[in-house]
Amino acid sequence: MRLAVLGAGAVGASVVELAADYGHSVTAFADSSSAVVDSDGIDAADALAAKRTDGVVGSDDPSDALSADYDVLVEATPTTLGDAEPGFGHVRTALERDRHVVLANKGPIAERFPEIRSLEAESAGEVRFGATVGGAMPVVTTIEDVGPSRISAMRGVLNGTANFVLSRMAAEGLDYEHVLAEAQDLGVAEADPSFDVDGTDAALKGVIVANVLDPDGGYTLADADVDGIEDLPGSMLELAKEDGRTIRLIVEFADGQVRVGPRLVPENAALAPAGTRNAVQLETEHAGQLDISGRGAGGAETASAVLSDVERLES
Ligand code: HSE
Repeated sequence: MRLAVLGAGAVGASVVELAADYGHSVTAFADSSSAVVDSDGIDAADALAAKRTDGVVGSDDPSDALSADYDVLVEATPTTLGDAEPGFGHVRTALERDRHVVLANKGPIAERFPEIRSLEAESAGEVRFGATVGGAMPVVTTIEDVGPSRISAMRGVLNGTANFVLSRMAAEGLDYEHVLAEAQDLGVAEADPSFDVDGTDAALKGVIVANVLDPDGGYTLADADVDGIEDLPGSMLELAKEDGRTIRLIVEFADGQVRVGPRLVPENAALAPAGTRNAVQLETEHAGQLDISGRGAGGAETASAVLSDVERLES
């Protein structure tokens, strides 16, 4: 497949870097923001500059990449809320050209899911977005495999930054600001890390899961009940520890409601993963609880989910 990659943050740059390994070529890319170096040491600016010399369309204007020759648009620009622009417009342009779209950007799926599905219905292109929930963890595809109507609830840790902050604070007694700066250095935090700690990022993922489980629900961030960890006192973690428990930022979807907030969990529970890891539990109709855990954030990890989605387009 020929890919046009929009966004050269940790994820976009890693897609450019790894595409050939999956047998795909990057024919165009665009990034209007400043490039970053991610946790794997991939320098977006270098990766893209090298591609430019290969005769690839490279631009700081997304419309140049959108009008180039490609089979799949990879939308990896930063997540935006509300109208989810400019990401939503990028998706619409590609679908109107009958191109496939694979998203790492959560905004269009969380905020404008019904419109995305209608545009897709009118297009020869398909939309996939497994990378938007849980990075490398196959959450969306597991739901598709089991069957959305056979799953009654989802509960999970879906923000690696908040999980890292809480686990480091609990294990080392370190203060919040110090640990958040460490998470940013790891390259897992959002461009605006307040989305990680105020629960917005986890809520967006919960809303996306809600839209997959209940496709006619039309869920958006405004429907979610969201509480973050930014005001959680360190003493709460100490108290929990004395009782063999800890605190994690948990996102739930059950009974038509998305809820996010700090919750007490047993210290060694599946929903108390260490560091930046994520964990999800799906409540199935006939097979009890399904557990998924793994790396929920990071450039190469999320890029691997994008490229797996590209593979699914071919099958
Ligand atoms: N900032 C997010 C996290 C990245 O920490 O989980 C993946 O969406």
